Amino acid sequence: MDYLRIYGQSKLEGTIKISGAKNASLPLIAMSILAKNRVQMSNVPHVVDIKTLLKLLGNLGAVYTLEDEVVTIDTSNIDKTTATYDIVRTMRASILVLGPLLARFGHCEVSLPGGCAIGQRPIDLHLKALEQMGATIDIESGYIKATAPKGLKGSSIIFDKVTVTGTANIIMAAALAKGETHIVNAAREPEIVQLCEVLAKSGIKIEGIGTAILKIEGSDGVLLDIDPFSIIPDRIEAGTYLCAGAITNSKLTVAFADANHLESIIAKLEEMGCQFEITQESITIIPPHNLQPVKIVTQEYPGFPTDMQAQFVALATQANGVSIIEEKLFENRFMHISELQRMGADITLNGNVATITGKTILSGADVMATDLRASSALVLAGLVANGVTNIHRIYHLDRGYDNLEKKLNSVNAKVERLKE
Ligand code: EPZ
Repeated sequence: MDYLRIYGQSKLEGTIKISGAKNASLPLIAMSILAKNRVQMSNVPHVVDIKTLLKLLGNLGAVYTLEDEVVTIDTSNIDKTTATYDIVRTMRASILVLGPLLARFGHCEVSLPGGCAIGQRPIDLHLKALEQMGATIDIESGYIKATAPKGLKGSSIIFDKVTVTGTANIIMAAALAKGETHIVNAAREPEIVQLCEVLAKSGIKIEGIGTAILKIEGSDGVLLDIDPFSIIPDRIEAGTYLCAGAITNSKLTVAFADANHLESIIAKLEEMGCQFEITQESITIIPPHNLQPVKIVTQEYPGFPTDMQAQFVALATQANGVSIIEEKLFENRFMHISELQRMGADITLNGNVATITGKTILSGADVMATDLRASSALVLAGLVANGVTNIHRIYHLDRGYDNLEKKLNSVNAKVERLKE
């Protein structure tokens, strides 16, 4: 297994190119199940989760290529509709094939994704919405067995909670359903907006794109002609590298990022005293000499993203004063705290509220990655710590960060990937 060795006290300088968004790529890859033509998407990040979902589609009979950042997928020869446990258990976003498979084939079996390190992560809202659209859902031996022999019908769906992949699943199911589907309390993430835009461009009538209320006129089973498209930049990757600039007190630029998708992240960094130079294509962070403490509550988009919570806990260890960070979306998304404490961080956790007292000098240590974003928090801590930090189990990191050590080393960090 690989691990990362990070030599601390780095001063960063230069520009990091942001890759395409993992969480936009995944639903758009699943969406290819709705297409009659070969689908081509560019600016796809080189991360493990993408390869996992492509492998799942390949197991169903789809034919795909992944060259540089371009993915092409031909789903015309799909002859299986079972997403098996061996793949789904490694990536719960595999649930994104449920809506498209059911919409296209009228039946499918998808292994229950199960929970993950950060929480139980139920999919009850996905299933309830599909039943409202006419599906019959049974759970048997750990599989979701979904049938809709007469096809799915447009319905009025009200999500009790905002669910990103739940919204994506229902948008894709509605695209091929008969009639109009209303979704109330839809997720508004930029990744959902791109999914809607690509479907709208293929002729699906969608009203309310980017809002919490969507109206989708289905094609009544007619497969779609999808034009080539480019994946939007990864706002969480961009936010993570902006935090790298802030935590090392370095002026740093991220290129190909869309500042409109990072408003809440930039606002919190400004609260901490950072300044920014923003152009159409890039964001440059200019940190203060003394970072100010911050108060954060994670929320659905456009609120402060839960996927940036761990990174800001690490950053807050370098702020002068007491920061309060509350996690509202997931029940167990503070596993980075015990590892940061081993590096000397002064953090107390009370329920889902972390209190971080800074500024503390962190010392390099052997630490363990536990989930994707917690791993990136440990990388940030390693960059500023005194001495060497070894981050183990970085397969978590490889699921969502494209060439992290290469990108950091290109701006003067000293990060090595070694074998245990
Ligand atoms: C997506 O996960 C992202 N993953 C996550 O990013 C992100 O943290 C999360 O949205 C929240 O923004 C992808 O897009 C692939 P949810 P998702 O359904 O869709 C509850 C990363 O780091 N809920 O929006 O699985 C759920 O328990 C990953 O890239 C139900 O109760 O999250 C949670 O409390 C980690 N029932 C809340 O809703 C359901 O049926 C939000 O979950 C579905 C969700």
